[in-house]
Amino acid sequence: MRSILTSLCGLLLLAANISKANCNLEIEGNDAMQFNTKELSVPASCTEVKLTLKHVGKLPKTAMGHNWILVKEKDLQTVSSQGLTAGPTHDYIPQDKSLVIASTKLLGGGEQDTITFSTKALSPSEKYLFFCSFPGHFALMKGSFSIK
Ligand code: CO
Repeated sequence: MRSILTSLCGLLLLAANISKANCNLEIEGNDAMQFNTKELSVPASCTEVKLTLKHVGKLPKTAMGHNWILVKEKDLQTVSSQGLTAGPTHDYIPQDKSLVIASTKLLGGGEQDTITFSTKALSPSEKYLFFCSFPGHFALMKGSFSIK
């Protein structure tokens, strides 16, 4: 009995580790104004997501800045224009955060930023998008984010 319990504990720990690993995301932006993926997802079991954005290019953030902003699909245009209004001193991230689910700072070539955010307010039935709010970038630099 004891050995069965021990094995069960081991399995649970293993499962916990696996689900934790799946809650970590990594995405890259480059000097060609592109992310390396157009689709990100995490399992519904994640309570928190850890996301790392890496700028793998060489250009400075004033010329080829990248950030990663998560919004509901329907809020993309609004948050994008709010970001432009906020401007470079605020990393093109709206000062009013009410529609911003998560955001990294604005990066230049060779830089990276890691953020964690709660999935508490996210729903598997809602459509989410991530994008870069640097002027002119979201046409190419966007993708879907889902909870599966
Ligand atoms: Co960008």
